[in-house]
Amino acid sequence: MRPIRLLLLAAAFAPLCSSFGQNIRATGKVNEFYAANCSNCHGKKLEGGLTPAQNKVPSLLDDEWLHGGDDESIAKSIRTGYPEKEMPPWSATMTDKEIRAMVVYIREQQFAFRRGDTKIDKRPDDLVAKSKLHNFEVHPWVSNLVEPWGLTFLPGNKAVVTEKKGYLYLIDNGKLAARPLIGAPLADTGGQAGFYDVVPHPDYAKNGWLYLAYSDLQKRDGQPVSLTRIVRGKIKEKENTFADVETVYQAPLELYPKAAGVHFGGRIAFDKAGYLFFTIGERGTGTNAQDLTVPMGKVHRIHDDGRVPADNPFRKDPKALPTIWSYGHRNPQGLAYNSATGDLYDIEHGPRGGDEVNLVLPGKNYGWPVISWGMDYPGTPIGEGLTAKEGMEQPVKYWVPSIAPCGANFYAGDLFPKWKNNLFVASLVGEQLVRLEIKGDKLGGDEMLFRDLGRIRHVIGGPDGALYVLLPTKISRITPAE
Ligand code: HEC
Repeated sequence: MRPIRLLLLAAAFAPLCSSFGQNIRATGKVNEFYAANCSNCHGKKLEGGLTPAQNKVPSLLDDEWLHGGDDESIAKSIRTGYPEKEMPPWSATMTDKEIRAMVVYIREQQFAFRRGDTKIDKRPDDLVAKSKLHNFEVHPWVSNLVEPWGLTFLPGNKAVVTEKKGYLYLIDNGKLAARPLIGAPLADTGGQAGFYDVVPHPDYAKNGWLYLAYSDLQKRDGQPVSLTRIVRGKIKEKENTFADVETVYQAPLELYPKAAGVHFGGRIAFDKAGYLFFTIGERGTGTNAQDLTVPMGKVHRIHDDGRVPADNPFRKDPKALPTIWSYGHRNPQGLAYNSATGDLYDIEHGPRGGDEVNLVLPGKNYGWPVISWGMDYPGTPIGEGLTAKEGMEQPVKYWVPSIAPCGANFYAGDLFPKWKNNLFVASLVGEQLVRLEIKGDKLGGDEMLFRDLGRIRHVIGGPDGALYVLLPTKISRITPAE
């Protein structure tokens, strides 16, 4: 049977076979090049996956092609990329010969897949693991979610979770509501746009305000534009609604970038004094981060009702936006306040390498896109190619290569006493949970706790002292193990 089948397959790919072995020999290491440059998006076995921002990346095995499946079309896809969809162009990094070898490599992997030689493993649901200070186990808590993004706990064994595609769900005693809350705003959900963080007011028990960050869709001159906006509302459980919604932060319409796209930020944190901090990414335009007249690439600070604090650092600068607290940020998808020390940290995606944890201080410049520990996607230097510069802050921690960090929180529970006040960071591409011992601008311990359950979007401690992680389709709960 086998030789005949192979022969048939070979016939189907006749045009390719003419130059088969030759190109593979020309580069030799095409598989290593794939593993180093493509696998983090297209999957280790070319099975497809998600980009750092969790957009879908197609399988290269199934012979279904978005942009044509003949050799030249595939080569063209690799050469020019689809930057608006996060597929980088490779023409500056790969020679034509190497691109040709990559096409052949993709064909070989397709053969293996059709023969049934490629096993694509399903991720486990459960895990028992040892770590330096505590042993722990991980089990699903709430399943059947689609891209959960933000999670918060409310009194009475309740929680609220956002889904990226624009939904807000109540969780009651670990049970997900059958339907999303009605009355939540309509969001832009293209690209990385959607619903982001959800955080209760520090006095939630008294006032019931719940804050939501999302990408607000508007029209300007007939064109769709969108930008991160913060609203607050109150949950009416009987009616399953998000009611009394009011805007807390919205930028002037003329500053909204084109809709969809990338780097919206979207985390919210309150400090002990009740100030509200939130992040907006630079929307793929690095220069925004250094421009104090636009809200992109910044951490902002406002009062709980949206008023601008009188002592904000740029309040007296007539050209700067008064809500800006710090700038030079790329895509801060994590924002964590340590209530034990009063320190605020942002966690941001680097370009390719150079993910950062920063101690966020008022008026400071965190350097993007002028300085970075990473490089551009196709492997070229960023900005001035510098990692440090006078007047620009250094991260407390950076990752090279990138783990694509996202949500983060300090642990304040009692179930894991030795983890108290440690910073937990979720990672998407790295699929790992990281524990950092951070004090001020000093990094102590640094430990990867587990990986391989899938991409982790966020991590937060619950009132029960457990840690909760947001995986692609569920929330899992971390508790102590023997
Ligand atoms: C940062 C993520 C990312 C990386 C890295 C990446 N890709 Fe892609 N790639 C994508 C996405 C997303 C698409 C789908 C684009 C679209 O929807 O139009 C894509 C599309 C493609 C396609 C076209 C598929 C089709 O269905 O027509 C090919 C071929 C491809 N990639 C090959 C590669 C190769 C080879 C590498 C490494 C040299 C690579 N990609 C690296 C994200 C990535």
